[in-house]
Amino acid sequence: MGKVGVALAAGCAAAACVVAAVMVGRSVRRRRGWRRVVRVLEELEEGCATTVGRLRQVVDAMAVEMHAGLASEGGSKLKMLLTYVHDLPTGNEKGIYYALDLGGTNFRVLRVKLGGQRCIIEHDVDLQPIPQHLMTSSSELFDFIATSLKDFVEREENISEPSQRERRELGFTFSFPVKQTSSSSGTLMKWTKGFSIEDAVGRDVSQCLQEALSRKGLDMQVTVLINDTVGTLALGHYHDEDTVAAVIIGTGTNACYLERADAIIKCQGLLTTSAGMVINMEWGNFWSSHLPRTPYDAELDADSPNPNDQGFEKMISGMYLGDIVRRVILRMSQESDVFGPVSSKLHEPFILRTPMVAAMHEDDSSNLNEVAQILKDTLEIPDVPLNVRKLVVKVCDVVTRRAARLAAAGIVGILKKIGRDGNSGMTGGKTKGGSRIKMRRTVVAVEGGLYANYTMFREYLNEAMRQILGEDVAPYVILNVTNDGSGIGAALLAASHSASTITENTNFIVI
Ligand code: BGC
Repeated sequence: MGKVGVALAAGCAAAACVVAAVMVGRSVRRRRGWRRVVRVLEELEEGCATTVGRLRQVVDAMAVEMHAGLASEGGSKLKMLLTYVHDLPTGNEKGIYYALDLGGTNFRVLRVKLGGQRCIIEHDVDLQPIPQHLMTSSSELFDFIATSLKDFVEREENISEPSQRERRELGFTFSFPVKQTSSSSGTLMKWTKGFSIEDAVGRDVSQCLQEALSRKGLDMQVTVLINDTVGTLALGHYHDEDTVAAVIIGTGTNACYLERADAIIKCQGLLTTSAGMVINMEWGNFWSSHLPRTPYDAELDADSPNPNDQGFEKMISGMYLGDIVRRVILRMSQESDVFGPVSSKLHEPFILRTPMVAAMHEDDSSNLNEVAQILKDTLEIPDVPLNVRKLVVKVCDVVTRRAARLAAAGIVGILKKIGRDGNSGMTGGKTKGGSRIKMRRTVVAVEGGLYANYTMFREYLNEAMRQILGEDVAPYVILNVTNDGSGIGAALLAASHSASTITENTNFIVI
């Protein structure tokens, strides 16, 4: 080999070394990047840990806060609101009733025909999205609702028989915290779930609607004003009399239950004639130091229109889960380049919605095609390798699992408060000595997209219920998915509270 050949060979070797060094450098960087995102995931898992021990602490805290909220006004972050619903539908209700359901992104009007003997002969529903500008500006909202209701009534009564009553009667489901002054009136305490119409806070929502109905010339009486949980309880109880509580896990989350009159200390004296009342817990605002809170929760809360408010809801409900996942992916993307350059979409609040989280979590294709599609279409992150897609699925899993398990702890908290968790009082499954006491069948009505439509969420919740209650007690606690309690339940309560039927249909709560 001549000098030229040696020089050439040396040059090639040097170039090969540079290429190799670049490649090694890249792969080291990639490995480091990967280690960093795995660390983010591990921190998330630690932060979201919901051991059975911790869930039991949440159960206890829920029961304690329930006591405190019932003892005095403002005694707890749990408002434990009176509903003045002392009696639930019996099944004997007859006639045509209307319902109006306002509380999420859509609002619905219903016409329900009840035939007695627990028979809902027919129900017609009209659904309309609420225009965005009405969710944040003045009380034009009520005029919009009244107009839609009037159009619906006219359409319906053209095609089917008109209501036989002197005045049409309406059950109004308004799914926000309301301080009730009777079963048909109450003032809005605050907005949740992204609504914020300042001039409506402190006003009687029933009266606002009634006035809007008169302005539109619609002769209709708001017979009951209820929370969606109360409608769900009414429908659940209509089908199964062992139903003692209702939980909603949808855009927002909340629960209500039947409480004994003597336990509602804050209104002693007011309830002398009835055995009990439905209490709207507004559990979305529950808080306890035992809740597993991560920096993502803190950031989400700080950026929300209602900081320090609805803490439990922000960890559990459909409005927020997608945004927690988005925040984790953003952090991963900032920590390393496994997602490529940081997509500007990752900075957009609420761009990743919970149904997308469910779709990614439940993607059972071998290549996780759905995950890739959502990352590309929604977050504008293309070409994500399979191992990174798996990471995204894991993030969805951690966030959803925590939510479902906390909701389960909340439900057991209610059961504990009313002595149906198998550990308290005479209804417990076992005594200290080990001898058995007969357990009572206990049904909780559940509604909302997370539980009804998101299989993994439902399975995690059910599993946590079994873990907390134990194998002896769990079979006595039944979670029943009801269908449209916030609509049909409102019509049922309008019927059972109607002046014309109240005597024949009274089913005072027996607890
Ligand atoms: C509201 C509750 C409602 C729940 C479910 C929460 O944001 O405060 O009143 O029951 O959402 O719709």
